[in-house]
Amino acid sequence: MQEKHIDGTFGFATRAVHGGNEIDAETGAIRRPITMANSYALPYDPSEMNWSSANGNLYTRNGGANQGYLQQKLALLHGTQDCVVLASGVAALSGLYFSLLQSGDHVVFSNVTYIAAYRLLGELFKNKFQVQSTLVDTTDLAAVRAAIRPNTKLIHIETPGNPTTGVTDIAALAQIAHTAGARLSVDNTFASPFNQRPAELGADYVIESLTKYINGHGDAMGGAILGKTELLEGIRAQAQVNLGGTVSPFNAWLIMRGAVTLPLRMRQHNESALAVARFLEEQPEVRFAAYPGLESHPQHQIARRQMSPGFGGMIAFGLHGDHDLHCRFVERLRVITSAVSLGHDESLIVFLGENDERQHLYPAEFRCGFFRLSVGLEDAGDLIADLGAALRKD
Ligand SMILES: Cc1ncc(COP(=O)(O)O)c(C=O)c1O
Repeated sequence: MQEKHIDGTFGFATRAVHGGNEIDAETGAIRRPITMANSYALPYDPSEMNWSSANGNLYTRNGGANQGYLQQKLALLHGTQDCVVLASGVAALSGLYFSLLQSGDHVVFSNVTYIAAYRLLGELFKNKFQVQSTLVDTTDLAAVRAAIRPNTKLIHIETPGNPTTGVTDIAALAQIAHTAGARLSVDNTFASPFNQRPAELGADYVIESLTKYINGHGDAMGGAILGKTELLEGIRAQAQVNLGGTVSPFNAWLIMRGAVTLPLRMRQHNESALAVARFLEEQPEVRFAAYPGLESHPQHQIARRQMSPGFGGMIAFGLHGDHDLHCRFVERLRVITSAVSLGHDESLIVFLGENDERQHLYPAEFRCGFFRLSVGLEDAGDLIADLGAALRKD
């Protein structure tokens, strides 16, 4: 029987297709099956087993077949030694923070992050566990350096950041973190490993919400933490076995299937989002359009250095007009769906109103209502026509 052994020497698309997959030894199927079991056979004498171990298949909360295959694929795509997959992107964030941080530690984190990172670091860990934290505009390196304290254990960034698309210099932040004896974690969800691989730029931990581009079809949730084995060992046991944020075998299988077409899909997301962003930027009704691939984006040069071949599918933009005009605009769209999440096959738009408690932390143009648009895989011409028709109706 053939054994493929696809490793990091192969191209990204080859790794996306074959990574984590082998011929099933029992049936000869050329696809890994879904193993819908929550328990695995014990050895003759299990009395010496470590029930909290996350090494090997024992109970699906400790680790299971489909999780393992997906971990292999994702580690290959990110070029990391190891990967832990969990039930959601938030399970990955909370698993990382819970495993790494102790009372009295200090965290520097970005002013632009997914809301759960803000709640976890800015409120929950601070108030419940006395983990200190400082919110910083991480696009400003001097501000990051000034925020470092002797007890800083972690710098957490998101780039491009949700929802503003602000870009943080990963290599510079890795250097700042390591000089201070701290670790750097990077939420890479907006970029996906096709466009950006933070571990290659010095990040210690990479977070992905697999719910988004990596699965790509809007039908499963998952999350991943990637990095060196020695840094992930403790996290794997804590986040899976003790916190229990395990991904189901079926969702792991769905995400593994979705990830096969990641390079094809990302190429289209990159191309269509650039076309849509260029269109939006030129419309008189549009107050601003932010996309890392636009020359007008404040961190475009940094994005060009660390993102390749493209800049992803996420755009933020605002209209001239009041709150109601923004709501009317969304109601008129015929192709783009008004719903949360991102990175799906279909385009998704969210109106982020003026009462978001974090708006004072964002650059000035984001301090009144604006949209987050996830450009999907429809014909770019249809998306542009949809946006154009909705703009012109007032
Ligand atoms: C950048 C980013 N990180 C993490 C998450 C959380 O992922 P999940 O919804 O899979 O828990 C999201 C969700 O939107 C996100 O946008």
